[in-house]
Amino acid sequence: MRNAGTVRRVLFVCLGNICRSPTAEAVLRQLLTQQAPDLPVEVDSAGTADYHIGAPPDARSQRAALRRGIDLSALRARQVVAHDFTRFDFLLAMDRSNLRELQAMRPRNSRARVQLFLEYAPPLRLLEVPDPYYGDAGGFETVLDLAAAASQGLITALQEMA
Ligand code: 4NP
Repeated sequence: MRNAGTVRRVLFVCLGNICRSPTAEAVLRQLLTQQAPDLPVEVDSAGTADYHIGAPPDARSQRAALRRGIDLSALRARQVVAHDFTRFDFLLAMDRSNLRELQAMRPRNSRARVQLFLEYAPPLRLLEVPDPYYGDAGGFETVLDLAAAASQGLITALQEMA
């Protein structure tokens, strides 16, 4: 029997939850709306660190996203919690450091896939989304480009599971 209609839950994870993971969250949501509006997917994001809890996405992320028709303004940063490992089916890390943090806090009863987001975009030949926080505006465009490519692959994988 196929799992038609089963909701899949995806959590994107970076360090601060103000640049990369909220961007990935909104990019995936936009592509799902455009390409697979009936696919039952829930999307959220969180950070491994507590630096920015409650803060909206970085203004540079918001500006870059808005130029592509994506509004990040309603998002607020939160930290990853143990319950995320049972609530979500996929915890997708932006870089290897985020992945290590997740693996270290993963409870034994978690059946979630904990992996790097860019594993869903093999043609990129890149596994980490570079942290744009201390860089220039180009870094925020790169985050959007990488998030779009990997979201496309993730949607295909989710459709194959449905
Ligand atoms: P993010 O970027 O992990 O993509 O949200 C960062 C945000 C804040 C800091 C580092 C990275 N920080 O050091 O405050």
